Amino acid sequence: MHSPRLDSAPGGSAAMSAGPSRRSILSAAGGFAGAGVLARPLDFLRERRRTRGLVRHAAIGVGGMGAADLEQLASHGAMDVVALCDVDSAHLAAAAKLFPNARAVRDWRELFRNDAPVFDSVNATIPDHMHAPVMLAALRAGKHVYGQKPLTRTVAEARAVARAARRAGSVTQMGIQNHSNAHYSAALELFRAGHIGRVHAVHVWSDRPAGWWPQGVERASGADPVPDTLAWNLWLGVAPERPYKKDLYHPFSWRGFADFGTGAQGDMGCHLMDPALWFLGLAAPLSIRSDGPPPNDESYPLWSRVRYEFPPNALTTRGPLPLTWHDGGKAPKQELEELAAGPVDPNACLFFGEHGALLASPYLPPRLLPAEKFAAVPIPAGTAVNHWHQYVDAVRGKGTTSAPFEYAAFLTEVALLGNVALRFPHETLAWDAKRMRFPERPEADWYLSSPVRKGWDFQES
Ligand SMILES: NC(=O)c1ccc[n+]([C@@H]2O[C@H](COP(=O)([O-])OP(=O)(O)OC[C@H]3O[C@@H](n4cnc5c(N)ncnc54)[C@H](O)[C@@H]3O)[C@@H](O)[C@H]2O)c1
Repeated sequence: MHSPRLDSAPGGSAAMSAGPSRRSILSAAGGFAGAGVLARPLDFLRERRRTRGLVRHAAIGVGGMGAADLEQLASHGAMDVVALCDVDSAHLAAAAKLFPNARAVRDWRELFRNDAPVFDSVNATIPDHMHAPVMLAALRAGKHVYGQKPLTRTVAEARAVARAARRAGSVTQMGIQNHSNAHYSAALELFRAGHIGRVHAVHVWSDRPAGWWPQGVERASGADPVPDTLAWNLWLGVAPERPYKKDLYHPFSWRGFADFGTGAQGDMGCHLMDPALWFLGLAAPLSIRSDGPPPNDESYPLWSRVRYEFPPNALTTRGPLPLTWHDGGKAPKQELEELAAGPVDPNACLFFGEHGALLASPYLPPRLLPAEKFAAVPIPAGTAVNHWHQYVDAVRGKGTTSAPFEYAAFLTEVALLGNVALRFPHETLAWDAKRMRFPERPEADWYLSSPVRKGWDFQES
């Protein structure tokens, strides 16, 4: 099993107007829907949430970040890991050594078909293109779900997952563990104290993808032998068939490929845009515009700059609020460093307010800027909560989660709308969130969902 990589700074801590079949994403995968896995009645589920017993858990994806999720979830005293699932038998074997009594399978559909009665909770820590199928299957079977970020690979999937979670009444938590860390909590405290006043602009940036995974690349030619340990067809899942290439997709590097991942903005946007949407309580954006290079058919571009306009509210100044996302090292470094009078974190969110600026990073304490103006303001320590344990506690009826799928779907949608805008450079795309469409650019609607491979079809939800 390769070592778990949390989304951290290096050295840091841790189409569719096309037709009903596309729009309709989402029910269980083919061969699975009819397998007798029925949603449990809501009142039974609620009763179960009140129980004080062990939470019987199935871990889906146990290498990479899956190993970290499993370790964290299992470190809660009430967790009973009863099943493990991974398409790579080497990763599965490593996890099975830690949980020898857990049932180990390679195909998640088999897990739901044969073992659904023995678990109550699932984590889905697998490549982005498989989040929606697995999470929908789990929610429709009445399970609680800890699901990795971004919630899904497309906007339509995110909405379907949120809808299924609502219907199931399940406890859900998206794996944005930074949402529960002390740095964001301290930044929120500073924001709420009113030091910067009402906000008139937000900038969010990430150093990804550079050096982390390939982007801006065309389809690789040729094929390599599939390792004995890997079930390549299961790994592909809903994605179109393509030959296996050594170390190019599995593990980890799938992120920049449009069939599997969501690029730098999908990967990091859920961590870094979170403070903006959360602190400001923003509603859906009014428009999105990309001023970077377009993606090719295979992968996301090497860098991007996407500007959103959000409706104003009581915490913002008059007029739409601009929020600009920068990745691939294209943040306005010099201006930011001048403002901060020193280096700034390569992954952060900066609020510009009437009286000053607030820098929130998942990996460093927050800062009020310019520093000399706010020298007398103490930086609070913030409060850290174990994000995974918060989920387990909520499953057991104690408290609630801080990143439930309702919020997670919205956050994911905002990040993924940036990826849609990339396809239409230098055009301001008006967004009708209620109808889930771009009223003035219907071609863009195509990118809100994705075709699925035959045999893995989703059905009307
Ligand atoms: N919250 C964070 O800080 C954080 C950090 C890293 C990754 N992630 C998220 O975690 C997810 C996994 O990322 P990763 O880097 O660990 O990827 P990865 O490629 O390393 O895959 C994780 C594990 O899932 C297994 N897997 C792949 N497809 C599967 C399938 N269909 N069924 C069962 N197992 C499958 C792989 O064999 C591997 O063991 C992604 O959504 C990613 O965005 C979150």
